Order: sequence, then C-alpha cells, then structure tokens
Amino acid sequence: MSKRWYQENRRDPWRRQAKSKGYRARSAYKLKQIQEKFEIIRPGDAILDVGCHPGGWTQVSVEEVGDEGLVIGVDIKSTSPIEGATVLQGNIIHKETIERIEELLDGGQFNIVLSDISPKLTGRYDTDQAISLELSTMTLDVAMDLLAPGGAFVTKIFQGVGIEGLIKAAKDRFSNVQRFAPMASRNSSSETYLICRNRLPVPRRPARGLTAFEQVLSHLTEVGINVDETSTEDEEIEINKGFRRLNRNDE
Ligand SMILES: C[S@@+](CC[C@H](N)C(=O)[O-])C[C@H]1O[C@@H](n2cnc3c(N)ncnc32)[C@H](O)[C@@H]1O
Repeated sequence: MSKRWYQENRRDPWRRQAKSKGYRARSAYKLKQIQEKFEIIRPGDAILDVGCHPGGWTQVSVEEVGDEGLVIGVDIKSTSPIEGATVLQGNIIHKETIERIEELLDGGQFNIVLSDISPKLTGRYDTDQAISLELSTMTLDVAMDLLAPGGAFVTKIFQGVGIEGLIKAAKDRFSNVQRFAPMASRNSSSETYLICRNRLPVPRRPARGLTAFEQVLSHLTEVGINVDETSTEDEEIEINKGFRRLNRNDE
C-alpha cells in the first residue's frame, strides 16, 4: 500500500468507520446520511440499487428494509453476494438487464430506485460529467418503467452542463425534488444527489409522451450545446446518440 493511501485512510473518518462496521465502501455513509435526512426507505420496501458494486448501498438497503423487504443490486462489475439481497451483473441500459430485473420482481414494482452510478472516469471533467449525466438520465427512464406511483428515485449528479435539464425532467415526474450533498461526499467533490420523492401517477404536461433522455437532449440544444448524432463508440451501449459528445455551438 502506498504512503498516500495510508494518509488518505487516516484522514478519512468515513472510510475508517465503514471498515470497522463491515461496510464494503465508505459510500455506505452517503446513503445513511440521505436516509437520516429524508427517511425514504421504509421496512418492507422493494429497492433497486443501480451501480451497486462493491455493495455498500446494498448493505444499507438490506438493513433498512428488514426481513420483509426486497433488495436487488445491479452493476456492470461482478459484486460478491450480499446476504438478504440479490445482486446481478449487467449494464442498466441494456434491455436484457431490465428483463432479468423484471423477472425477479415477478409482476411487482419497486418503491425506490437508488443510483450511485458513476462512469469509468477519464480524468477530463467535462467528459466525465457528460457521461454521468447520460447515465443518470437513462437510469431515470429505467426507474420510470419500474417504480410504483408514490415511489422515490435517488441519483448521483455532478455539477455542470445539462444538470438543470435533468432536474426539470425529474420535477415533471416527481412531486418533490431536492438536491443534497451528504457530509460523506468529499469536500472537494462536485458530486451531489438528487432526491426525488413521490412519483406522480402521470408525468406533468411538458413531459407527457417524452422520455427524460429526450427532454435533456432538447435542454442541451436550448443552452447551445450540440450533441453529436452519430453512434457512440461503445457498441455495447444500445443508444444511437448520447450526451458524451458535446460541442458548444459557438466553438
Ligand atoms: C461509485 S460506484 C457505486 C458504489 C456503491 N454505491 C457502493 O456503495 O458500494 C459506481 C458504480 O457504477 C457502476 N456502473 C457504471 N456504469 C454502469 C452501468 N451502465 N450499469 C450498471 N452499473 C454501472 C460502476 O461499475 C461502479 O461500480
């Protein structure tokens, strides 16, 4: 282990606490702080945890829903089993993954969709933020297919271009949408969470007949961002355009 790792570990109380309490990731404390403030999870709830690896949020979800609850975690990476939860390996934007989740739900619906999803970082903030916006928006669309009316959706967002479009799309689908930065998010980080509560039975008028993805695309156009309409390089991703290739009109 490097000297830097030891120094970060010593300075980071959340990492120390996570280790001592048996959580697989320090991010478990972010969900605990979201839960303390908003009390979104109730005993008996059915939760989908998107981007669950290594499993910190799934562990907290299992604790909160208790024996009567249902927790399904999904991640592109393989996650070691977590007692009380079902963990799947799959890409959340692939149809087969959604079908596997629906099979497990057996005709039911989720009360909560949690998403701590994060792309593999390139180190270029604008690119990482655009990919993250794309993933969060697509996860919101997945949540709309799987959530019960009155349900909640939580997603990580990174400050930057297009975020207001995602917030607007969320506000058209939930009666209460708030931003929250848990203490356990690093001080230097531009990460916050969008806490969306009370899914409306029918989206508000501007969103009717539109996906969140389509709404965010038109928001990007309105603020002067061109989104390249060609296929993404990642053939695994079943979309024909994404937010990852953004150009300002004036550049
Ligand atoms: C910050 S980590 C999540 C940490 C987790 N909440 C915990 O407490 O252990 C973000 C995860 O999102 C996953 N991810 C990124 N893109 C994804 C996708 N398209 N489908 C599923 N998972 C994805 C990554 O593999 C990564 O494990």
